[in-house]
Amino acid sequence: MTRPYYHSALFFGWKDEPTFRGHIRDMLLELKTLQGSFTGDNLITFDKNLSFLSDEVFMTAFERHAQTKVEKGILWRTATLAWAAKNALRLSGDFVECACYKGTTARILCDYLDFGSQAQRTYYLYDLFEHDPSMPHHHMEEHGAGLYEAVKARFSDLENVVITRGRVPDSFVEAAPDAIAFLHLDLNNAEAETAVLEALFDRVVPGAAIVLDDYGWLFYRAQKLAHDAWFDARGYSVLELPTGQGLVIK
Ligand SMILES: C[S@@+](CC[C@H](N)C(=O)[O-])C[C@H]1O[C@@H](n2cnc3c(N)ncnc32)[C@H](O)[C@@H]1O
Repeated sequence: MTRPYYHSALFFGWKDEPTFRGHIRDMLLELKTLQGSFTGDNLITFDKNLSFLSDEVFMTAFERHAQTKVEKGILWRTATLAWAAKNALRLSGDFVECACYKGTTARILCDYLDFGSQAQRTYYLYDLFEHDPSMPHHHMEEHGAGLYEAVKARFSDLENVVITRGRVPDSFVEAAPDAIAFLHLDLNNAEAETAVLEALFDRVVPGAAIVLDDYGWLFYRAQKLAHDAWFDARGYSVLELPTGQGLVIK
C-alpha cells in the first residue's frame, strides 16, 4: 500500500503547541492535495515524492519499532539512515552506531536489511545507557540501570549485533571493527564525536556514508562547528540535509 503523505506533530522548540498545530492544519487545508506532504521533526514540505513511503520493507520495519512520538516523528531521518546502511551492503565492512540509546533506529535498520543474514558483518552499538551528569549530553527518559539489558534483549535474536556499554571512544578497546561500511554518530556531544572520528575515520572504507545526526540543528551548533573544522582539515565537506543530519561520503 503506497502511503501518499506522512504527518507527525513532532516539532522541537515550538512555544505554543496548539496554535502551531492549528497553523499547520490550516496550511495543509490550503493545499490542492495532501499527496507528497510531510510534517514533523521541524520539517514542513509538500509536493514531494517521499520515496521512502513506497518502500514497504522499510515502512514495515519502521512501523514495527518506532513507538514513541519522537521515534515516529523522525521518519525522514530514519530513511536517510536506511539509505546509508543499504549503500553499505555493496561495500565490505561493519556497521557502527555511537550511540544507540534504546536501539530503535538500529533495530529498524536490522529488520530492513535482514541484518541477521549478513553473517560476515557485525553491527557495533555503543552507549553509556545511563546518564552521566559529568558529560555534556542530556539525560534521556529511558536512561537507567535496566536499559543496557533491555537493549541486549531487543537484539537477542541477532548474533551479529555487539552491544558495548561505556564511554566512547574509551570503550572501543572492548570491541571495535577494523573496517566500517556505515557509521552513524548521534552523541549530542561535539568533543566525544570528534574523539570518535579520530579513532574510527581511518577504518571507514571508501564509499561509505557517515551520518551525523545532530549536524544541522542550531541547538547543537557546536557539533557542526567541530565537524566542519575536522572534515575541512582532511579535505572533506559535510552536506547539511533538511532533516538536520549531516552526510559525508568517504
Ligand atoms: C540521542 S541519543 C541516541 C539515539 C539513537 N541514536 C537512536 O537513533 O535511537 C544519544 C545517546 O548518546 C549517549 N552518549 C553520549 N555521550 C556518550 C559517550 N561518550 N559514550 C557513549 N555514549 C554516549 C547517551 O547516553 C545517549 O543515549
